[in-house]
Amino acid sequence: MKIKIHDGTKQTCGCILAGLTLLILSLPVHAEELESAMARGGVLYDKWYKVVDVDAPGTPHGLYPGDKKYAKDAKNNWRCKECHGWDYRGKDGAYSEGKHHSGVVGINGASGKDVKEIAALLSAPPHSYGDKLSAADLNDLALFVSQGQVDMDRYIDRASKAPKGDPAKGAAYFNTICAKCHGKDGLQPKEMPPLGSLMGNPWEVMHKILNGQPAESMPSLRALDHQVAADILAYITTLPKER
Ligand code: HEC
Ligand code: HEC
Repeated sequence: MKIKIHDGTKQTCGCILAGLTLLILSLPVHAEELESAMARGGVLYDKWYKVVDVDAPGTPHGLYPGDKKYAKDAKNNWRCKECHGWDYRGKDGAYSEGKHHSGVVGINGASGKDVKEIAALLSAPPHSYGDKLSAADLNDLALFVSQGQVDMDRYIDRASKAPKGDPAKGAAYFNTICAKCHGKDGLQPKEMPPLGSLMGNPWEVMHKILNGQPAESMPSLRALDHQVAADILAYITTLPKER
């Protein structure tokens, strides 16, 4: 009798073990989450030196054309966005004219390219970020370039700059996500221009909603349907432009 119970217990143990093994084997294998790395790449595309907490370079970027407005301004001409634009289309996008016109191609042509190849391009001359950013930073940037670019024309009408979004939905998103820091009227924090005044450059606002703001606690909405960002943009156009 005792032996039988013993045997039975053993068998149950075996069953449980086998069951556990099966359960573990059949659990879905989660692919590595990449959106947060892409968002980090997105803020590095802006003032990367703030993100990694170093001083901005003291000498201008070698690829910046000497006859353009920011030629002597290393703080700005080392930012990816200064050459390639907030809409990722360089000379063919919003920077086709105006003071930020750099005459440089967009990064949209590199969308889908191999991440390692892009990181190598950024590290080596003439881009020359290799001694300024770590391998992990370059990887995040390259991931953003390869897989993180958003076709802004789907969400913003290029000619009128009008967001293709629903301001009523945007109001609910804004008041629950953004207002904590920016106030319901978009007039906070005080050091920043009113949010409503920034829509002359909707591509920059869209980029920042999707990726965040360098070295600030602002969230990134990249993992959500991008229409959420477009709806928020549409609502921001209704906010006060002055304090
Ligand atoms: C000072 C201007 C300048 C800055 C800043 C700059 N680039 Fe470039 N970039 C260029 C020029 C010019 C080219 C085209 C010629 C070349 O490939 O060298 C280019 C090409 C590229 C390409 C290849 C595009 C294609 O169609 O193959 C990618 C990707 C790229 N840059 C990403 C970046 C990223 C990311 C940053 C920021 C870390 C950056 N660039 C900063 C000037 C710049
Ligand atoms: C946790 C606080 C926080 C939240 C939430 C937040 N932000 Fe921000 N945001 C900031 C801070 C801080 C700054 C930088 C302010 C400065 O430059 O003085 C900023 C900057 C910005 C900028 C750039 C302004 C500029 O002049 O460069 C935009 C655009 C922006 N936020 C929009 C939004 C939107 C839209 C939302 C909601 C989706 C949002 N933020 C949510 C904290 C936040």
